[in-house]
Amino acid sequence: MVSAKKTGSTVSVSVVSDARGQYSFPRNKLASGEYSLRIRAVGYEMDDPGAVGITPDKTVTTNLTLHHVQALSSQLTNAEWLSSMPGTGDQKAGLLNCVVCHTLEPIVKSKHDAAEFVSVLQRMASYTNSSFPLHVQKRPAPWLLAPRGEQLRQSQQRFAQFLSTINLSSASQWEYPLKTFPRPKGSATQVVITEYDLPRATIEPHDVVVDSKGMVWYSNFGEQNIGRLDPKTAKVTEYPLPVMKQGFPTGNLGLQFDQEGDLWLAAMNQGGIARFDRKTEKFQTWILPPEWNNDATQVNMVHPERASVDGKIWLENHGYTMILRMDLGSGTFEPFEPFKGAYEKGENHNIYDVVPDSRNNAYFTDFEQGQIGRIDAKTGKITFYQTPTANSRPRRASIDSDDRFWFAEYRGNRVGMFDTRSERFQEWLAPTPWSAPYDVIVDKNGDVWTGSVTNDRVLRLDPKSGQSTEYLLPRSTNIRRVFVDNSTTPVTFWVGSNHGASIVKVEPVN
Ligand code: HEC
Repeated sequence: MVSAKKTGSTVSVSVVSDARGQYSFPRNKLASGEYSLRIRAVGYEMDDPGAVGITPDKTVTTNLTLHHVQALSSQLTNAEWLSSMPGTGDQKAGLLNCVVCHTLEPIVKSKHDAAEFVSVLQRMASYTNSSFPLHVQKRPAPWLLAPRGEQLRQSQQRFAQFLSTINLSSASQWEYPLKTFPRPKGSATQVVITEYDLPRATIEPHDVVVDSKGMVWYSNFGEQNIGRLDPKTAKVTEYPLPVMKQGFPTGNLGLQFDQEGDLWLAAMNQGGIARFDRKTEKFQTWILPPEWNNDATQVNMVHPERASVDGKIWLENHGYTMILRMDLGSGTFEPFEPFKGAYEKGENHNIYDVVPDSRNNAYFTDFEQGQIGRIDAKTGKITFYQTPTANSRPRRASIDSDDRFWFAEYRGNRVGMFDTRSERFQEWLAPTPWSAPYDVIVDKNGDVWTGSVTNDRVLRLDPKSGQSTEYLLPRSTNIRRVFVDNSTTPVTFWVGSNHGASIVKVEPVN
């Protein structure tokens, strides 16, 4: 991948070289000026070619010379580390819990023995899920440990023991060869990628959505604001979100349009939800009632898309493993607790996403138990459906116009689909091992898009033929929510670089 950035600009444009190593930038993508170049090609570094001047009337050619990188370990993606290291699938899967906050690099490069790792693991568990090395916040309450103290201690010890076998605690180099994945080829090279840098490195763009005017909005996972990017000018405007719970961790996660095109967001540890009116640029907030609003409260998702059906919106309270439905007229919350009492019986559940179908019934993912749940909007009846792949870890989801529920199988490394009408599942394996997809969306042509938390690859899949293309992004990202803008032909894919403080636009050539 070759990336060009104009001096003083916040925008980088990237293209991919073909099988003969030739690359070219479309004329309309680079305005006149002086550019610096960087590359991504695992195993290689570039000799600095210096600044490149672009003028309107003449094609410029810059030949790039690559040399083998000295320290390959600084270039490996998380998925490449996971493919390289020894260990069982279960052991390695434990590391999928770590990559949401930082890469595996500090882990595999550490010298901790098993005992030290136990205290590292305890420290990690004290951080909010939005924490990353540039912005650390503490959880208000230890994560529901009480009834499971001993069981948790034992599994922590086993995991710490495994971690001490993959790092540098007993040798100066890894005792396993470092494997790298093949470079993009064929259709994966037919793409132009634009990265828009955000104003601070601490901004974590989690959900990125594009409105009907082409404005790009993002939720800020760790800070108390949301942002708007104008892709024409690259200007970013931030809107401070009112504090709902003084002294509690800041940040927001789920960001979703309602049918009027206004934005709803879930304010996580702040214990509420907010609506942002795009015209007046003002927030209105709703705070959970005290019985479900304490130290454990964490509202991650809000879904107003089908409120026109019955005037209700769906949200979840992750800390309580509960789903709520809010009546827009009265602002009252109605609780649904599919797993009440289960934890005390030794069962783990983790409600991740909750998405309405066309009749505003809710479908939700149980990350822990690999099942999809359904709440009937009229009767409140809850039904469960087990995903075909074991330990699939279903995460974020979306529903298409045929009421098919598409979800990412984070550990199953698959795209999953539950047809809510026929009540049948279908699954597609991601081509690259350990991709850990987070979210899925279907575009206007029926192509399915997902992004990898672990290896900076965006997967575009034709579910009919099973054929897929994986577009590699130019830098380390940590992909979360995925979004497709269907107003362009071909469609345009957007995603946040959750750990790289940029918004990424992927434009396939066809
Ligand atoms: C909720 C976010 C979060 C999760 C999940 C997380 N970490 Fe961290 N980790 C951090 C932050 C923030 C830092 C930097 C601050 C620090 O060292 O405490 C860090 C630093 C580290 C370091 C380098 C510092 C040191 O003490 O050696 C190691 C090693 C590490 N984490 C291991 C892990 C492992 C193993 C996991 C998975 C079991 C994990 N982390 C999961 C947030 C997280």
